[in-house]
Amino acid sequence: MKQISIAIDGPAAAGKSTVAKKLAEKLSYLYIDTGAMYRALTYLALQKGIDVDDEQALLQLLRNTYIELKPSEHGQRVFVNGEDVTNVIRSEDVTNNVSFVAKHSLVREEMVARQQALGAQGGVVMDGRDIGTHVLPHAEVKIFLKASVEERAKRRHAENIARGFASDLETLKEEIARRDKIDSEREVAPLKKAEDAVEIDTTSLSIDDVVNEIMKIVNERI
Ligand code: CDP
Ligand code: CDP
Repeated sequence: MKQISIAIDGPAAAGKSTVAKKLAEKLSYLYIDTGAMYRALTYLALQKGIDVDDEQALLQLLRNTYIELKPSEHGQRVFVNGEDVTNVIRSEDVTNNVSFVAKHSLVREEMVARQQALGAQGGVVMDGRDIGTHVLPHAEVKIFLKASVEERAKRRHAENIARGFASDLETLKEEIARRDKIDSEREVAPLKKAEDAVEIDTTSLSIDDVVNEIMKIVNERI
């Protein structure tokens, strides 16, 4: 069967990674979480005391950083220079800084090159903000997931509680809205629906509903 590329974009907590993982499992494709790559760099920068506005220092750090996304029994794990950072990259500190790191064009250029190399063979589901517009502009299937900010905050809140993280719904709503604004308004590769992407509003859809809708589109293309 033809191995295609699937790009999934959308704002924070729209369900991108959950849906992308399920699609990759169903199709036996590679799943690439590009947000985890920006989070991994942000984690390391914060640890090293590097200013998130210092583009050159971030680029230098990234060039010396090996980021791996490895499948495991407990889902995909993220490693930075061999250290398992899967959980720490979801911390509030990383979340509040990642959009500043992701604004820099030189950082994005290097990240996009790595992401394109990972997806070069096809048979890939990649999620992020600029996958359909910049990373995989020729992807056979492009999806843009959205949901109301209230629903997205509720989902993240439930997720935080399940993980044992402290969580406040109103603060989350503000954090999500602030991050969406920075991601949508940045000059380089902003969060934006690709012209040829199919938009799905997941506000009142279950995960399985969304996966089934995308699978229909995928089956048409394969
Ligand atoms: O899971 P969540 O939606 O909270 O975020 P994420 O997908 O882990 O992405 C974290 C941040 O990385 C985003 O808010 C963007 O600032 C940045 N990002 C990006 O700029 N481009 C991508 N392709 C993926 C993420
Ligand atoms: O990757 P992104 O930030 O877009 O969202 P996510 O981390 O995949 O999803 C955030 C939470 O929403 C997860 O706990 C999902 O189980 C939940 N959820 C969803 O993804 N899609 C729905 N239609 C309903 C709930």
